[in-house]
Amino acid sequence: MIDFGNFYQLIAQGPLASWLEVLPAQLAAWQRENLHGHFRNWTKAVDNLPQLTPQHLDLQHSVTADSDELSDRQRQGIEKLLRALMPWRKGPYSLYGTVIDTEWRSDWKWDRVLPHISPLTDRTVLDVGCGSGYHMWRMIGAGANLVVGIDPTQLFLCQFEAVRKLLGNDRRAHLLPVGIEQLPELKAFDTVFSMGVLYHRRSPLDHLYQLKNQLVSGGELVLETLVIEGDEHDVLVPGERYAQMRNVWFIPSAAALARWLEKCGFVDVRIVDFSRTTTEEQRRTDWMTTESLADFLDPGDNSKTLEGYPAPLRAVLVARKP
Ligand SMILES: C[S@@+](CC[C@H](N)C(=O)[O-])C[C@H]1O[C@@H](n2cnc3c(N)ncnc32)[C@H](O)[C@@H]1O
Repeated sequence: MIDFGNFYQLIAQGPLASWLEVLPAQLAAWQRENLHGHFRNWTKAVDNLPQLTPQHLDLQHSVTADSDELSDRQRQGIEKLLRALMPWRKGPYSLYGTVIDTEWRSDWKWDRVLPHISPLTDRTVLDVGCGSGYHMWRMIGAGANLVVGIDPTQLFLCQFEAVRKLLGNDRRAHLLPVGIEQLPELKAFDTVFSMGVLYHRRSPLDHLYQLKNQLVSGGELVLETLVIEGDEHDVLVPGERYAQMRNVWFIPSAAALARWLEKCGFVDVRIVDFSRTTTEEQRRTDWMTTESLADFLDPGDNSKTLEGYPAPLRAVLVARKP
């Protein structure tokens, strides 16, 4: 059901064409080898969703689609199929009356990022670690010409394809289930986003180089990640877990991160936002019913994680490839 042929055709003639030297083989291997036990059920849910052309579509202020012509029964059918793709972490989405109240208010992150970046109008954009693709749709809403998201998590690909179908099979955004480390040096994107990914990378400076290698000369990197308070010498290297996550390797201060970016050859490095993650922004909902931030903080002192580290603080940095 998930057919990448459209994407191959789309990029065949343009600056992303060199990707075709590796991508079809990578995705064929992925389809052969790695499918999650529930993948078939997820794709069945996507297949069973109707392909709708929304009469009302908003990607600028939210991700909302609706149509006056749908019956209550059709609306209930859509909600049921979307629930088959739980847990929903990144959103929210409002699709034909179903409001997917996701674990994260990803719209709040977008509101913190958008005022500080170069206008996305007509840009070709890469979103590394895009999750269900919520920000990709907002990037389209902000005028991007083409948005490519990469994320190896298979449920997120199915959630993205479900949303895409309900948005009228919109082909301005594409999600590919590959990791950043699998990308060749494309040097083809005007803006590259890496949001919520750096602290999951074992080698954060290599991650910054990998991001730089995807940008055109003069292109912009938008980096959002966990940070600690401190100066350019301060970096937290957590033990086995940070806020119960096992795969957190390095949490630098924003000043240290700015220095890393400069060491990797970025220029015009700006720290544009700090925000403490609250239990209003990340929480358990009807669409993500397991543990969330409130369960990962010290119950006696919410300024600390359960492990005694500083509670999640996030920064947004913007930099340019010369
Ligand atoms: C914390 S989420 C951030 C999602 C979204 N960018 C946001 O800011 O809300 C991190 C995402 O990175 C993805 N990820 C993990 N390893 C990755 C890799 N090697 N390359 C690209 N994405 C990866 C995960 O599947 C997950 O969706």
